[in-house]
Amino acid sequence: MAEFDGIKEAHNKIPRGWVLFFVGVIVWLVWYIVSYTPQISGWSQYKVFEEEMKAAAVSTAGVAGENPYKNSAAAVEEGRALFASNCSMCHGADLKGGVGPDLTGRLKYGDDDGQMFTTVSEGRPGGMPAFGQQLGRERIWKVLAYVGSVRERGGRP
Ligand code: HEC
Repeated sequence: MAEFDGIKEAHNKIPRGWVLFFVGVIVWLVWYIVSYTPQISGWSQYKVFEEEMKAAAVSTAGVAGENPYKNSAAAVEEGRALFASNCSMCHGADLKGGVGPDLTGRLKYGDDDGQMFTTVSEGRPGGMPAFGQQLGRERIWKVLAYVGSVRERGGRP
């Protein structure tokens, strides 16, 4: 034991928990570097992104046929909100058109469920964006249930 200016210095043992923590951090650090270094593990943010996109794409691929929400009032209400936040800036809050065409009249890409699903999911060349990734299958059907209900009422939103 040394003594300087009246202050005693004892050699204290490092607490066991602290040593374990220290070793744990080093092990974790090595694991982290190994798994996220592309040259070692092949990990890449682009690969992760591509895989996420692939998984999301499956949810809208090959869907056609009938709208499962056609007769659901709750889905129509949800669709109304989805339309307001995703579509109304182009098609108008009343669906009568703006940047995009009137959705209450004749539709040039077709007005059966499958055709309209394809329009919204994949987009159309004249400026209709694809919503497949953003909304997914369920929400596309709901927004179309709402559009369909407006069309059935002769264009009254
Ligand atoms: C950025 C503006 C924009 C947004 C947002 C948008 N659309 Fe469109 N939409 C258009 C344009 C422009 C067209 C015409 C495309 C064409 O003629 O090729 C179109 C076409 C369509 C058509 C086909 C019309 C026809 O005559 O066949 C439907 C159905 C449609 N949109 C529904 C929607 C729905 C539902 C949403 C919301 C999920 C939406 N759109 C969001 C711009 C938009």
